Amino acid sequence: MFGLVLSAGAVAAQTEVKLGYALAPDSHYGVGAAAFQEVVEAETDGEFTFKHFPSSGLGGEREVIEGLQIGTIEATIVSSGTLANFVPETGVFDIPFLFRDLDHARRVLDGEVGDEILAKFDDVGLHALAWGEQGFRHITNNRNQIAKPEDVAGLKIRTMENPVHLEAFETLGAAPTPMAWPEVISSLQQGVIDGQENPLSVIVSVKLDEVQEYLTLSGHVYSPAMLLVSKPFWDGLSDAHKAAFEKGAEAAVAAMRGFVDDVEASGVATLKERGMEVGTLSAEQKAAFQQAVQPAYESYYKQYDKDVIDRIIATE
Ligand code: PAF
Repeated sequence: MFGLVLSAGAVAAQTEVKLGYALAPDSHYGVGAAAFQEVVEAETDGEFTFKHFPSSGLGGEREVIEGLQIGTIEATIVSSGTLANFVPETGVFDIPFLFRDLDHARRVLDGEVGDEILAKFDDVGLHALAWGEQGFRHITNNRNQIAKPEDVAGLKIRTMENPVHLEAFETLGAAPTPMAWPEVISSLQQGVIDGQENPLSVIVSVKLDEVQEYLTLSGHVYSPAMLLVSKPFWDGLSDAHKAAFEKGAEAAVAAMRGFVDDVEASGVATLKERGMEVGTLSAEQKAAFQQAVQPAYESYYKQYDKDVIDRIIATE
């Protein structure tokens, strides 16, 4: 949205950036969005102002991305949930047990493989500024604690609208339901689903402990986030403005990662205090899950470039 602002005799054009995201202002997305705004506003002397739409205020992540494509929304921070529906290659990061730890994931996303995938968004009406982060995903549910693959048999678990995650849970024998995030809490409350999976950053900030009894630290898949802008909007920016948005995106990523580091350190204690029963998969138990999900890998290797998978695994 464009407007004119009068200040002490000066007339400056101002552009409002609508920034939508699924979580609250005090989440990793909220702190990332605030850092993005602060840097862009400072770097452009207030030529750009921001209007935040947290907590899915503009709809589910898929709808928001579609809004960016047609230019009705300027920017968003989203999970990899639905990104594979726009740029299929992003799905490679959703393969279970692919990343060893946060450092490994950050090095891959900040390196060539991450950059190659970011560049693909320009072909689909979007411009990807940077990879943000949510952390490793864990399972919560109301049915039982999980220690072995058999414990998820028949579990009605919500997955993101993401074919890689869906296939993994089907292979494990669960009963997964892909669902947009705005429907998840009410579906848990009504017992339509038994559980869901998300990183500690989400579980803590959304207070999933209010609707979920068991948390299993499964770390089954790494969950990147992405800072995306509308391509029509991006193409209308000057080089100096583009540089300001890129600098803002760097600040957003640092803020998100800082939040994730903090919640990784404190989140489990917080959730135990709030009454959740927390279990941790040992290395052997994790290996049993990895073994049980093997049949899905054959399909992943057909869908994704083996060279990319090998480069991810080989990243030190
Ligand atoms: O589970 C999801 O859909 C995502 O992780 C969430 C919570 C919307 C954050 O992007």
